[in-house]
Amino acid sequence: MKLSNRPHTIVFTIFGAGGDLTRRKLIPALYNLYLDEWLPDRFAILGIDMREMSDDDFRSRLRGGVDEFSRRGRTEDDKWAEFAARLVYLRAGFDQTEAYVDLGRRLAALDQQWGQPAAHIYYLAIPPMAIETVCDQLRQAGLTVPPDRARIVVEKPFGTDLDSARRLIARMNGLFDESQIYRIDHFLGKETVQNILALRFANSLFEPLWNRRYIDHVQITVAERIGVGHRGGYYEGAGALRDMVQNHLHQVLCLVAMEAPVSFNADEIRNKKVDVLRAIRPIPPDQVSRFAVRGQYGPGWLRCERAAGYREEPGVAPDSDTETFAAVKYYIDNWRWHDVPFYLRTGKRLPAQVSEVIIRFHPVPHQSFPPSAAGAWSPNRLVIRIQPDEGIELRFQAKHPGPVMNLSAAEMRFSYKETFHATPPEAYETLLLDVMIADATQFMRADQVEIAWRVIMPILEAWSTVAPGNFPNYAAGTWGPEEAATLIARDGRNWVLPTVPDDPAGEGEGGE
Ligand code: BG6
Repeated sequence: MKLSNRPHTIVFTIFGAGGDLTRRKLIPALYNLYLDEWLPDRFAILGIDMREMSDDDFRSRLRGGVDEFSRRGRTEDDKWAEFAARLVYLRAGFDQTEAYVDLGRRLAALDQQWGQPAAHIYYLAIPPMAIETVCDQLRQAGLTVPPDRARIVVEKPFGTDLDSARRLIARMNGLFDESQIYRIDHFLGKETVQNILALRFANSLFEPLWNRRYIDHVQITVAERIGVGHRGGYYEGAGALRDMVQNHLHQVLCLVAMEAPVSFNADEIRNKKVDVLRAIRPIPPDQVSRFAVRGQYGPGWLRCERAAGYREEPGVAPDSDTETFAAVKYYIDNWRWHDVPFYLRTGKRLPAQVSEVIIRFHPVPHQSFPPSAAGAWSPNRLVIRIQPDEGIELRFQAKHPGPVMNLSAAEMRFSYKETFHATPPEAYETLLLDVMIADATQFMRADQVEIAWRVIMPILEAWSTVAPGNFPNYAAGTWGPEEAATLIARDGRNWVLPTVPDDPAGEGEGGE
């Protein structure tokens, strides 16, 4: 046992076990935790879903998922067989009361077999409209007591706007103790996202510079090369703002902008994050277009292959107005950040799969070097690369070798892989382990969810009242619509072109 607060016996019950998330993320993560000996000796995984499957079908479906998506690659027969023996499938509708009675019986039988009451983790990998039903049923069946042994993990989207999120929060808080609810945002489990805290608060070097005096602006880019694929049905009702900005990008923003926590206590960290969201300057309803831009990909080319437009994807309306790209500008009204713009952008079918934070420092106050020396001069920049090729880079000016004084940009690089000789664990591994040890630091508290919705409500409302009119407005394989470039260019700045190893610079629009 590696962690003293890890329970001795655990049952994971996954609702939506026949779905994609279970196959792609949850089971590969649990399998890796098993291989790394993070799971207790006595554990079981019960999968519940509506599709017809035997235990064996279920196991082989999940094995296929692990083989395809695990960071470790293909499974080994022996290890998989040991793990698979703990997997059980129950076919049931989420509203079938008898299914919960049956579940209760099985949980009790395991407790008896193990001679000890297990911790019960209920993972809701289900569509948002089924959340309340499952929660009600679990509660009615008496499966969520005592509170210190029963935890509910809820996947995003947590609501579809401020009102629905509030209703869901109130409903769940009426059924469970807040300490039992783990609202997951998998970005928080990403190693480099967590590393932002280490960079900022385990080093004294950056903190004195981390404010409006030295920082000109911040950019957060989460670019995806993939399109919506077969998730059109879900995505049509979501769009990039709800799917990515409200949660993932806001989380990254909070970590970049928060004040130093007094301790690493879950509530202390979460209080500091909530403070950031509370300080975001509200976007005036009549100025949304100056602060937010939306886009939708049309057909295009990615890595020499033709990519379909969003409206051609399965499950998508041929005249859909759902945005697949969003860029927003925020100001955080506090002493540290007043008037420093934070530019956030995310989109699907962009030229690269890359997530980066760029901290752009002010130019030097006075240029002592002659213009001839400083031709390629540019301000300092810190890049925090969340994925791929996790790491941090600091760009600064250096003298170019030679007899004359010529400046050019040089970089100091920290590569996660090269320094630690390890591939970071998957976000879900970290987060599932946190649920097991009841550490809620990396999960969203109800007030944070609410404020994150409140921040984007003016944009959602403006976008729902006025049709975009020009969709699709960017071709697959480009860096989003022209308006995104204008959003930042209006302030005399430009998006920094992400550089990732397999994406030679120059594929996208120009950057610094
Ligand atoms: C999910 C979104 O939450 O995050 C997806 O619903 C998106 O649309 C995904 O593709 C991105 O996560 P990752 O870990 O693949 O970068």
